[in-house]
Amino acid sequence: MITVVGSINLDLIANVDRLPGPGETLRSSGFSTSAGGKGANQALAAARAGGQTRMIGAVGRDGFASEALACLKEAKVDLTGVREAAAATGIALIFVDEKGENVIVVAPGANDTVLAGDLTKARFTEDEVVLLQHEIPLATIEATLSAVAAAGGTSVLNTAPFRAEAAKLLPEADFVIANETEFDLYADALQLVGDDRKSRMRDFAGRTGRTIIVTLGADGVIAATPEHELAVPALDVTPVDTVGAGDTFCGYFGAGLAAGLPLDEALRRAAAAGSLACLKKGAQPAIPHANEVDAALSKGNA
Ligand code: RIB
Repeated sequence: MITVVGSINLDLIANVDRLPGPGETLRSSGFSTSAGGKGANQALAAARAGGQTRMIGAVGRDGFASEALACLKEAKVDLTGVREAAAATGIALIFVDEKGENVIVVAPGANDTVLAGDLTKARFTEDEVVLLQHEIPLATIEATLSAVAAAGGTSVLNTAPFRAEAAKLLPEADFVIANETEFDLYADALQLVGDDRKSRMRDFAGRTGRTIIVTLGADGVIAATPEHELAVPALDVTPVDTVGAGDTFCGYFGAGLAAGLPLDEALRRAAAAGSLACLKKGAQPAIPHANEVDAALSKGNA
């Protein structure tokens, strides 16, 4: 079982030739809406990877909620832990340029009402993998990490977006997934020692006894456990839109752990899935199904 305690958004996406500068008004070449939110994206990725998945979170009582939950419903993610809050559904305003790069501004709305009380009915178990991100209150993340540890389950903390005050939570998770920018910022905040990123990752793993995974976009993924280091490649793709690629990686990774895959295999599948997620527009519409990941891996390009 995979449980995601996290955010649910509706993404409002404008395509632009280039990202705007301060004070600038640009014409968009296209506009779309799609279900998003780092938590919901990771839940959908875990479900599409073949995992039995449930989501704990909140949406508003408004017109955005049903579209935000539509893909999760279709994928049969258990939504009994998703509450209707007296706040607006979370919204992400996203610009995507011609190279597939993006900028995102999130209005958290109902995601800020996801509190420790929402965990009461969760009853985590020892065979459970619980995925977390930084788009809900940090106190809720802290309470979840403690509850999962007490149950003997496995926690995976995706450190996106960067929040300086979250640094103290990283050593509490069994697996930490950061992109390179986030890891470098947390390495400073945690005063990790080393001349380069890999040695700071080793320092984190050695000091905490946890596994740190750093995603490097087109350059794949590197990881350090207390015992060893690993590197897996990304697929060789030309990105159309990278929104949700990191979430796809996290969801697939969680599903791999829940299925009992060895770490290197879970990372390899997750990296391939993240690459495939760059080939279509939008976060959730772009998340590949397990058979697509199998096909890409069997072609031998990862
Ligand atoms: O990681 C991508 C997600 O970040 C988007 O779906 C958006 O909702 C923001 O939360």
